[in-house]
Amino acid sequence: MTTQEHDSKIKRVIISEKEIQEKIKQVCAKISKEYDGKPVLLVSVLKGAFVFMADFCRALTIPIELDFMSASSYGAGTVSSGTVRIDFDLKHDISNYHVIIIEDIIDTGRTLKEIVRILENRHPLSLKVVTLLDKPSRRVVEFNADESLFVIPDLFVIGYGLDYNEYYRNLPYIAEYEE
Ligand code: IMP
Ligand code: MG
Repeated sequence: MTTQEHDSKIKRVIISEKEIQEKIKQVCAKISKEYDGKPVLLVSVLKGAFVFMADFCRALTIPIELDFMSASSYGAGTVSSGTVRIDFDLKHDISNYHVIIIEDIIDTGRTLKEIVRILENRHPLSLKVVTLLDKPSRRVVEFNADESLFVIPDLFVIGYGLDYNEYYRNLPYIAEYEE
């Protein structure tokens, strides 16, 4: 794809780099206070959340460990609707940690609901979900994050880790994709 083709699909910026960084600072100041003195494990679900994870962990001022997992979800129409397969699991035994899941976006809610169920079965000391973006109007299963940095309408968005066909993850802002 040429740069011109690539850029022609970036419809408009909906959340700027500055707005993202400011919001991360606010939330991380709160979380740094809340979790001070506790063993914290940040868990990110690849690939979409890797950019958010990188900025989020650097805005925390307390000691933390981090780990990654990867999951694929199968939506309606496949063998088992809403089934999530773990492609790549955590290296940590989470039973001695306060776990914070760092997610890019909650859409139908299926992926995260299942990941939370799987991780709760491993009995962490506590479990919280922080999502950068939340599209509550698209929810198919009931699921709420403990922290949603930005609530957005039903738009397909790209950038800051989020992709369209694997492109645009490296944009430093969140934009609407031109369908
Ligand atoms: P769900 O909540 O199980 O529907 O799945 C959320 C996943 O769908 C996210 O982790 C993204 O990978 C993907 N997704 C949902 N909405 C968008 C979007 O607007 N742009 C890019 N990816 C999206
Ligand atoms: Mg994702």
